[in-house]
Amino acid sequence: MGRSLAAAFLKAGHPTTVWNRSPAKAAPLVAAGAHLAPSVAAAVAASPLTVVCVTDYEAVRELLGGDGVVLDGTTLVNLTSGDSAEARETARWAGRRGARYLDGAVMAVPPVIGTAEAVILHSGPEADFAAHRTTLEALGTVTHLGADHGLASLYDVAGLAMMWSVLNAWLQGTAMLRTAGVDAVTYAPFARQIAAGVAEWLPGYAEQIDSGSYPAEVSALETDARAMTHLIEESEALGVNAELPRLFKAMADRAIAAGHGKEQYPVLIEEFSRPDPA
Ligand SMILES: NC(=O)c1ccc[n+]([C@@H]2O[C@H](COP(=O)([O-])OP(=O)(O)OC[C@H]3O[C@@H](n4cnc5c(N)ncnc54)[C@H](OP(=O)(O)O)[C@@H]3O)[C@@H](O)[C@H]2O)c1
Repeated sequence: MGRSLAAAFLKAGHPTTVWNRSPAKAAPLVAAGAHLAPSVAAAVAASPLTVVCVTDYEAVRELLGGDGVVLDGTTLVNLTSGDSAEARETARWAGRRGARYLDGAVMAVPPVIGTAEAVILHSGPEADFAAHRTTLEALGTVTHLGADHGLASLYDVAGLAMMWSVLNAWLQGTAMLRTAGVDAVTYAPFARQIAAGVAEWLPGYAEQIDSGSYPAEVSALETDARAMTHLIEESEALGVNAELPRLFKAMADRAIAAGHGKEQYPVLIEEFSRPDPA
């Protein structure tokens, strides 16, 4: 990822200094015009903007906390993946060393960095983002989410919930259909259509959540729960895994037991908003 980020800065014409623990990996960037710094300290000193992207936050603090590294006065943009607590902690850590700090999350794969398809989220002080926005736009479609340093990571991790939920739902259906000889490639276009259709419901459902009112405009939760029973029974009868549908049903059953059966599906936000039941 670091190589793709540096290559995008170079392609956009920004003078770019690079450093990597294994320096040989920087060779293509040097061939493309990057300056290879001999140390982290030299890399940070070379520019008012330092972008870091390594395995995890521990590595960020280890390499930027090393001897001779002066963060005072630099703007540090950390595009390493992590959680919101680590982001806030690293912001405090960088602040104690005099750096202006923006946390970021790259919601894209390396080949699309430098194109509009690369969505890159930032959080931290608005003025620090504004000062470097034009430069950061070389990397992709950049968005500033707010002053709370944890927001970029929080959006990133929330996005993982969406990604794995869609994939797991598709795999559940695929496992069921395969028992009838329907291959994955045949089902995929149907699954895609269903996922896209359900995605259309999100803005309206979000309004229900924000207003705390869940009138059953389309269907009531108790109707959904009966359909969940069909999904569980069909999965069991076909000999495929039913853990995922049982999980949906358990949450719906708790909400129904709490008196929400006549309300609409997003009322389950109340189940999602508290810790796991004991
Ligand atoms: N690849 C993706 O599709 C993708 C997408 C979104 C976000 N990300 C995020 O981007 C970050 C980097 O991912 P990647 O795919 O580039 O991983 P990667 O190919 O494994 O590269 C990890 C980088 O971190 C460096 N590093 C690790 N520990 C270090 C330490 N203690 N001190 C100094 N350098 C250290 C490595 O240096 P060496 O070269 O010396 O090993 C390497 O440059 C991760 O947080 C990842 O979640 C990646």
